[in-house]
Amino acid sequence: MHYLAHNKGKDMRLFLDTADVQSIKKYIDTGLIDGVTTNPSLLAKAGSDPKKQITEIVTLLPDGEISVEVTEKSPEAVYKQAKVIAGLAHNIVVKIPCHIDYYSIINRLAKEGIKLNITLVFTLVQGLMMCKLGVHCISPFLGRLDDIDVDGASLLHEMRQIIDEYGFATQILAASIRHVRHFHDSIMAGADIATLPISVFEKAATHVLTHQGIQLFDADWKKLGIKQFP
Ligand code: G3P
Repeated sequence: MHYLAHNKGKDMRLFLDTADVQSIKKYIDTGLIDGVTTNPSLLAKAGSDPKKQITEIVTLLPDGEISVEVTEKSPEAVYKQAKVIAGLAHNIVVKIPCHIDYYSIINRLAKEGIKLNITLVFTLVQGLMMCKLGVHCISPFLGRLDDIDVDGASLLHEMRQIIDEYGFATQILAASIRHVRHFHDSIMAGADIATLPISVFEKAATHVLTHQGIQLFDADWKKLGIKQFP
């Protein structure tokens, strides 16, 4: 069965996987950017004031979803920090790692209506357990599965199958996308969202034959010697 059939009539949303405000600004006008995912590594890379970065990003995309990850370690501290992060803006989704120590607070936060993006998901069974808790979305990490010779695309297909089979509301956010093929695989697996590093977004939007075709049209047109058209 082709899983795309299950997403008929829906949209596949594209997020940028970056905390760099300038990169986000560069592509907002394309109308393709539905949100942004950050994590402690991306925030640390983007600047020295993560709260300022986040404030700028949530303002840039008021109708988008902006994922911001907890940085505390103990479950109770993660719970408290998650509530503070969620309170920063209406369009923030709180990222919590899929670790057993956090399952109880994930359950608690989900029941309190906090939108959660459960990150660092690597197996179907992790995903199933998070779907049972009714979290907003789960982030399977394709690139890091490839790093250990595990096929991330198959995981996406299996996640799509169980979510559709059981009627879970949890969305699949394909993450750790390292190249355009991961993006392609995410589309064909029926992922609800793909979060793209800027480099992958740009590579996906560029094709050598498109560039060559424009040059050929231009060369032929110039032979006409027309200065004004139409
Ligand atoms: O969204 C998760 C992503 O930022 C992790 O990517 O390449 O470090 O596995 P990577």
